[in-house]
Amino acid sequence: MSENIEPRAVNCAILKGGVGKSTISVNVTERLAARGHDVLFVDLEPNGHASVGLGFGEQYKDEDSDDIGDVLLDDGDASPQDVICETDFGFDILPSTKRLETIEKLVESSNFADVRLRNHVVDPLLGTDYDFILTDPPAYRGKITNNAHVATQNLIVPLTSGGGSVEGFQRMMERQVTPLRKQIGLDILAIVPNRINARIDHHNNDRKLVERLNRDFADKLPEFSRVDFEAVDNGVFNGDLPKPGIRKDDKISKAYSERKPLAAYDPENDQLKRFDELADIVENGGVAQ
Ligand SMILES: Nc1ncnc2c1ncn2[C@@H]1O[C@H](COP(=O)(O)OP(=O)(O)OP(=O)(O)O)[C@@H](O)[C@H]1O
Ligand SMILES: [Mg+2]
Repeated sequence: MSENIEPRAVNCAILKGGVGKSTISVNVTERLAARGHDVLFVDLEPNGHASVGLGFGEQYKDEDSDDIGDVLLDDGDASPQDVICETDFGFDILPSTKRLETIEKLVESSNFADVRLRNHVVDPLLGTDYDFILTDPPAYRGKITNNAHVATQNLIVPLTSGGGSVEGFQRMMERQVTPLRKQIGLDILAIVPNRINARIDHHNNDRKLVERLNRDFADKLPEFSRVDFEAVDNGVFNGDLPKPGIRKDDKISKAYSERKPLAAYDPENDQLKRFDELADIVENGGVAQ
């Protein structure tokens, strides 16, 4: 355990598929671990992409051994330590299982369905075994995503331009975050534009997204996404334009398909500093103002 840090659990979530939840949560987990923190990554996606990608395909397929269901459900008697594995990248993983959809239905019919992950995984481990716990939930609304919000009470929201990701964010706010905030605290640590590649001085969807976020959510944006658009339009940057957001970068998707966090696949990649800034935000409990 690290000294002088406040342990924190964080959920990287949005009710929209394919915007970078898994990419961001795996890479922020790796960056925190690279600083010497004890970090647990909890894969809550029934498709198990991150678990299989990180080398835990056997655990994902195996229906006989204990899995997260035996930790969360009343008739299971596994402790989280029984199902947590060590990755090659400095952090631990609680892998997904192909039983997860069935498990979700069983959780749904249990008492206190929404507090299961909190009571059985996060509360017993955070601050004792782990400095940080990151969850990677599915894109749909249900008991698993509710559990991830309740267990972490901290959100990182990835957004991409076009494709309805802003609407996915609004849905999550209306249907999950706002109702939950009436019961318990839930902080948005950061909103992160991802897969940005267009020029910011032209009118295109990337600019529209980043401009809207700077207008409406400036206090939730990492430094790398804050842009003075007036200065951009007045030509102040003189060709050396800001490149806000996590860039669209083939190396990021190749790292993913090669089963590695970006730092292990391409240690010199310039986008690593973005994930490092997100790791700072997790350490500090929010964006530096
Ligand atoms: N900045 C980026 N540059 C290039 N490719 C990216 C970037 N971010 C994510 N991707 C790619 O986009 C795809 C979707 O990303 P990812 O799986 O992280 O999203 P997700 O929100 O977890 O999706 P799902 O809802 O399916 O779980 C992946 O193939 C990933 O490699
Ligand atoms: Mg994912």
